[in-house]
This record gives sequence, C-alpha cells and structure tokens, in this order.
Amino acid sequence: MKIMSISNKSLDVLLAVGLLTSCVAFVSDSEYRAQAMKLMGADFKARGQAGLDRLNQDEANAACSRTPADGPLSKSASAAIEKANFARLKYPADGKLLGDWREGERIAQSGVGKQFNDDPSRPAGANCYACHQLAPKELSFGTIGPSLLGFGKLRGTSRAIQEYTFGKLYNPQAYTACSNMPRFGHNGILTEAQIKDLVALLLDPESPVNK
Ligand code: HEC
Repeated sequence: MKIMSISNKSLDVLLAVGLLTSCVAFVSDSEYRAQAMKLMGADFKARGQAGLDRLNQDEANAACSRTPADGPLSKSASAAIEKANFARLKYPADGKLLGDWREGERIAQSGVGKQFNDDPSRPAGANCYACHQLAPKELSFGTIGPSLLGFGKLRGTSRAIQEYTFGKLYNPQAYTACSNMPRFGHNGILTEAQIKDLVALLLDPESPVNK
C-alpha cells in the first residue's frame, strides 16, 4: 500500500510538471517571437540604405512567418493575401510590358544592390539566377525556384501571359501568398523599366531563354 501511495504521489508530481512545462512552452512560443524580433532589432545595425525598417513585416509576411509552426495558412487566408497584393499591382501607364531582353539578362545576372555598401543611386540587380535557371548558357543557377528555361515558348506571349509575368515579378505574393521570391516592384528593388526588360527576357522569342 505504501508503495502504491508513493507512486500515486510521483504520478501527481509528474502530471504537475507536465502541465507546467506545457504551459511554459505555450507562453514562451509567443514571447519567443517577440524576443527574436527584439534580438534582431538589437543585433542588426542600420547602415547606409540598409535600414532597420527592413525588419518590419506587413500583414502577409507576418502571417507567412507563422507557418509552418502554426500549420499552413488556410485557403481563405491565402486567398485574402493574394487578393490584397493583386489589388496593389501597378502596371506601366504606357501599357507596354515588354522591354529589352538583353538588358533583362544583365539585370538577371546581377546580384548588386540594396546592401549597405552598394551605391543607392545606381540601379539594383535582380539575382534571378540565384534561384532560377533561365538562359541555358549560364551553368550556375539556384533551384529554390522552378526552371524558367523555355518560359515564353511554353506559355506563349499573349497579353494575359505578359500581365501575369509583369505582375509576378512586381509582387509574387499577388499569386502565391507565401512565395519565397522577392517582391521586386512592390518593395522598390527594381524600376518599372527593369521589370519590363525581365519580362522580355522571359517572353521574347529572340531571348536565349526561348531558343
Ligand atoms: C530568392 C529566390 C528567388 C529569386 C531571387 C527569384 N525568384 Fe522567381 N520564384 C522563386 C520561387 C520559390 C518561385 C515559386 C513560387 C512562386 O510561384 O512564387 C518563383 C516563381 C517565379 C515565376 C513563376 C513561374 C511560373 O511557373 O509561373 C517566375 C516567372 C519567376 N519566378 C521569375 C523570376 C525572375 C525573372 C527573377 C529575377 C528578377 C526571379 N524570379 C527571382 C524564387 C525566386
């Protein structure tokens, strides 16, 4: 009997510890986020054009940062993010969406820009090859994003495809709520003219991407 009562007590203690740790884990999850943001705020130093405002998340980024810890976004939450971002797409006033693919290739190759030691008066590059295959002669490319080889050949060059391509480069979150691709137009990384050149790189039949 005595043994029994000890083990009951032990069980109580175990249960109490278990409850306590699960409470602590629950509280610390939200606090952990706040602490992580505080740490980043303290650790990153504003230098030149790289200001601490870059740590500020908009609603879409904040919602996406909570995945996968909180599980994937619901379909309706994803759709709401895409709708809000789609509504903010800015298409060129002159209605032209295709620029010069040669210039587009230079921009896609360049990883310069937006760092504290880059000259902010010079145009930034897009570093597309860091994540995508594009022109076949470039052998060094990342694979975070899908291969874009033959993009225009496969999709065609209709107005709808031109608009999708421009919009996707302007702000990928207008189409894919938690995309890992930079929001080149939305975040002012590239100019409208640069995005047109990249649309040409992807769609122009003369572009090496489509040869
Ligand atoms: C940090 C990585 C990254 C960089 C840099 C990047 N992308 Fe992406 N891109 C992705 C990912 C991941 C996807 C797939 C998810 C999505 O559709 O948003 C994607 C999707 C795309 C798509 C849609 C493909 C389709 O099948 O419809 C296009 C077009 C595209 N990228 C073009 C570009 C171009 C052009 C550049 C340079 C201006 C670029 N990306 C830079 C990661 C990147």
